[in-house]
Amino acid sequence: MTQDELKRLVGQAAADYVNVHVAEGAVIGVGTGSTANCFIDAIAAHKHRYRGAISSSVATTARLQQHGIAVFDLNEVESLPVYVDGADEIDPAGAMIKGGGGALTREKIVASVAEVFVCIADASKRVPVLGGFPLPVEVVPMARTAIGRRLAALGGVPVLRVTQDGAPYITDNGNEILDVKNLAIDKPCVFEATVNAWPGVVTVGLFASRGADLCLLGTERGVETVDFRARR
Ligand code: A5P
Repeated sequence: MTQDELKRLVGQAAADYVNVHVAEGAVIGVGTGSTANCFIDAIAAHKHRYRGAISSSVATTARLQQHGIAVFDLNEVESLPVYVDGADEIDPAGAMIKGGGGALTREKIVASVAEVFVCIADASKRVPVLGGFPLPVEVVPMARTAIGRRLAALGGVPVLRVTQDGAPYITDNGNEILDVKNLAIDKPCVFEATVNAWPGVVTVGLFASRGADLCLLGTERGVETVDFRARR
């Protein structure tokens, strides 16, 4: 199977999971990226089962609305039974690197509210140690260089994310992103807390203290379900 076929497979598996485990009339949390898009496309066939969705990005909002799925402001919603999203990397404890698509801040907010975080990923995303994929860190623009120095002191190589025309990439929240190469993150919770504490950091794309509860992993043998809750 190609990577795209694996993404469609787990997108459908996540829709099946949500249809079974989430009560009718609920609002569901929806992530960002090509794998999350497969979930949106799969859940659209069952959209009348749900009141609507909380979106993690402008792009996801547009895709949900194209399917006729209502998008709510998080402030209007009291509970969120599930959040479904992709990942750039996931480790054996369910800690993830996210933000390759630039939506890390809203993803982390929505994930923090959800009762269950379902990560959907093709098998290439499973790694023994996080850091092969550059770690996105969303920063307030005036703090870019100061934060870059701190990241370099930890052994990382921060690179400002730019668009195709060379201008700084700007997030949905009006900030910039440093993509940090050359990391091997063997203590994800400690690393996340350390970087989070620096003034000027909006969000570090390390989802460790609130990692995935479940992972639906697309493999050549089909969808493998990994339940991290049983390991905690
Ligand atoms: C978006 O900001 C990211 O966190 C995505 O969830 C992550 O980059 C995975 O994206 P793909 O599903 O496109 O690989």
